Amino acid sequence: MSILVTGGAGYIGGHMVLALLDAGEEVLVLDDLSTGFRWAVPPQAAFVAGDFGDAELVARVLREHRVEAIAHFAAKIVVPDSVADPLGYYWNNTAKARTLIAEAVRAGVPHFIFSSTAAVYGEPAESPVVEDIQLSPINPYGRSKLMVEWMLADTVKAHPLKAVVLRYFNVAGADPAGRLGQSTPNATHLIKIAVQAALGHRQGMDIFGTDYPTPDGTCVRDYIQVSDLIDAHMKALAHLRGGGGSLTCNCGYGRGLSVKEIVAAVKEVSGVDFPVRTAARRAGDPAALVAGADRVRHLLGWTPRFADDLPAIVTQALDWERRLHNRQG
Ligand code: UFG
Repeated sequence: MSILVTGGAGYIGGHMVLALLDAGEEVLVLDDLSTGFRWAVPPQAAFVAGDFGDAELVARVLREHRVEAIAHFAAKIVVPDSVADPLGYYWNNTAKARTLIAEAVRAGVPHFIFSSTAAVYGEPAESPVVEDIQLSPINPYGRSKLMVEWMLADTVKAHPLKAVVLRYFNVAGADPAGRLGQSTPNATHLIKIAVQAALGHRQGMDIFGTDYPTPDGTCVRDYIQVSDLIDAHMKALAHLRGGGGSLTCNCGYGRGLSVKEIVAAVKEVSGVDFPVRTAARRAGDPAALVAGADRVRHLLGWTPRFADDLPAIVTQALDWERRLHNRQG
């Protein structure tokens, strides 16, 4: 029996592959390599280059690899791109996910773990934000993911499939053993950008907006270390295997950090005082987005390692960025 990881050649899915292999599981990666990297998948994992929306291909791999659980990471994730190309996002993230779920049901796969996002909350009035509040995503990316949540909610009522939906907050850092990190060339994520500025791979950085209604005027986010996030997936898999029911959990630490605090931490850890410019607000950024994180701890028994350790997260990101830069020569 094996675990199918879609998007297993990417940043977060790649960390799932490592965790599964470390736990002695059989792993099959399905990835079209549109943003992932073949080198990111260790040789111990089976690899199929292809599209998770290709029904025939999915049916074949589910059968041939006797897939027991699907961890579905593959998606397009850039919010401004989703605004420019909504139909592309609804096709890739939503319509193709419907195909994957339908094939899972048809093949009798019992367990499904879905990568959702804090973007389903839009601009929540409360912070921290708990899972049961009214969901009102403000961009096509968030809506493309929320529709999959709805499909899964209806599917688990009608079929034997059980699903755990994990809503990620701001994922950061890298594998503590240095095997993998965020490798996308045109990253938009704050910690990655600040780290690139510290290493001189870009000319300083911009802070998007300093007039938000937050303590220092910059946006507040809940940064979760990537292997901690993956540990929640491993706990979700154990929950499903143990006969646990479908559920939806936020994945964050419940701790808000401002953009200025992140920039200060990157300067402190790197020892480099890189240039930081103040720029206009970025469209669609909520002022504060912090996870109400009780459910994942209580229902899945999740205990994160790096919740109080921003310097460790920054150190991992710096180490990975150096390796990546050397690899690219
Ligand atoms: N920021 C800067 N300068 C930069 C990059 C980011 O000031 O160069 C700021 C942003 O304006 C924001 C914060 O840093 O206030 C975090 O931005 P990121 O782009 O790192 O992350 P987001 O919070 O925008 O995005 C995350 C996920 C998305 C998800 C979204 C939900 O990466 O996938 O949360 O709101 F959709």
